[in-house]
Amino acid sequence: MARKLTHVRVGVIGLGIGRAHLKGYAEHPGCTIAAICDTDENRLAAQAAESQLDASRCFTSVRALLKAARALRLDAVSVALPNALHAPVTIQALGAGLHVLGEKPMAMNTGEARRMIAAARKARKTLGINLSFRFTPQSRALKDIVDAGKLGRVYYAHTRWWRQRGLPGFGGWFGTKRLSGGGPIIDLGVHRMDLAMWLMGGPQPVAVSAATYDPIGSRLAREQKKAFDVEDLGAAFVRFAGGATLSLEASWAGFMGKNEDMVTEILGETGGIVQRNFGEGYDFEARVFSEEGGALVETVVKRRLAPAPSPYADFVDALLEGRPPLATAEDGLKVQQVLDAIYRSAALGREVRIRA
Ligand SMILES: NC(=O)c1ccc[n+]([C@@H]2O[C@H](COP(=O)([O-])OP(=O)(O)OC[C@H]3O[C@@H](n4cnc5c(N)ncnc54)[C@H](O)[C@@H]3O)[C@@H](O)[C@H]2O)c1
Repeated sequence: MARKLTHVRVGVIGLGIGRAHLKGYAEHPGCTIAAICDTDENRLAAQAAESQLDASRCFTSVRALLKAARALRLDAVSVALPNALHAPVTIQALGAGLHVLGEKPMAMNTGEARRMIAAARKARKTLGINLSFRFTPQSRALKDIVDAGKLGRVYYAHTRWWRQRGLPGFGGWFGTKRLSGGGPIIDLGVHRMDLAMWLMGGPQPVAVSAATYDPIGSRLAREQKKAFDVEDLGAAFVRFAGGATLSLEASWAGFMGKNEDMVTEILGETGGIVQRNFGEGYDFEARVFSEEGGALVETVVKRRLAPAPSPYADFVDALLEGRPPLATAEDGLKVQQVLDAIYRSAALGREVRIRA
């Protein structure tokens, strides 16, 4: 377990979603933003102005940032880079003595994820993964309800994130397997899979049967003469130790009714949960179903009353309190095991086993 800090000086590497990390850190009184890094000089300059950081705290290379870590008295970094850079940069940062909050997916594959965990253990530093959908006040309330035993034994879950037309711009890293590891399964499916598995109580996946398709993405990319070598839809059936199962679907493109459609359904022996987005956006409604006094009852769940810190605040709190973050590297590895098995099963056209 890492030593407790009294204040956290953090850097953020990658200024896409990394800007959300900066906002989260800026709101935490126990944290100071000490450095930012991006190879894109325009993004870096714009963020430097917004965060009021002088040139000595702005870096265009990870190597230069890590070299300056001691002088800047950095404690931690967020690694918010394209997927292929998660493992190498995280391992370098841990080796430089920094705690790391990594982005999802944890890595390109299970081998990389295991090497990241080994590096964190060796350095005795905290490694968290931004599995952000479990952090909302409503998701935290649903987890509290499951943990209180309302659902009884959970045996089945279904989850999906469908986008009718949500293909990323062709030619960038998202649609290039060498840089991303895959399409909507590794991009969107990760979130849904983590939320469902967390609500199910973190069962160990043991087998997966999956299929992936790319009819729309590949056609549109061909028309635009751009590269695209990942799926545009994936579907999987996951078996867990103990017999529970999960059905998962994720798409960037398909002839479906809504442009942004997310749902998570958890079925237990004495109750069930449904959480879905509405208005084709990022607002969610949630209900719990149960039997009470001989009646079938439906309860609307708004949000947790106890605090539900953001992933960034939780990471800082974890360092200040000397505890693991809400979403650990081991959670990231479990999701990664399912991701690897999905792509393997889709390639082989049959169910594949997962080695624990
Ligand atoms: N948790 C979430 O909800 C969430 C949301 C969006 C993205 N993500 C994840 O965050 C990661 C980044 O996604 P994004 O949407 O911000 O991508 P992006 O392409 O918008 O941003 C990545 C940034 O990294 C910079 N960069 C690339 N290589 C670099 C290098 N070697 N050194 C320094 N900077 C470099 C780029 O210039 C760019 O500004 C991905 O893994 C993605 O899956 C997570």
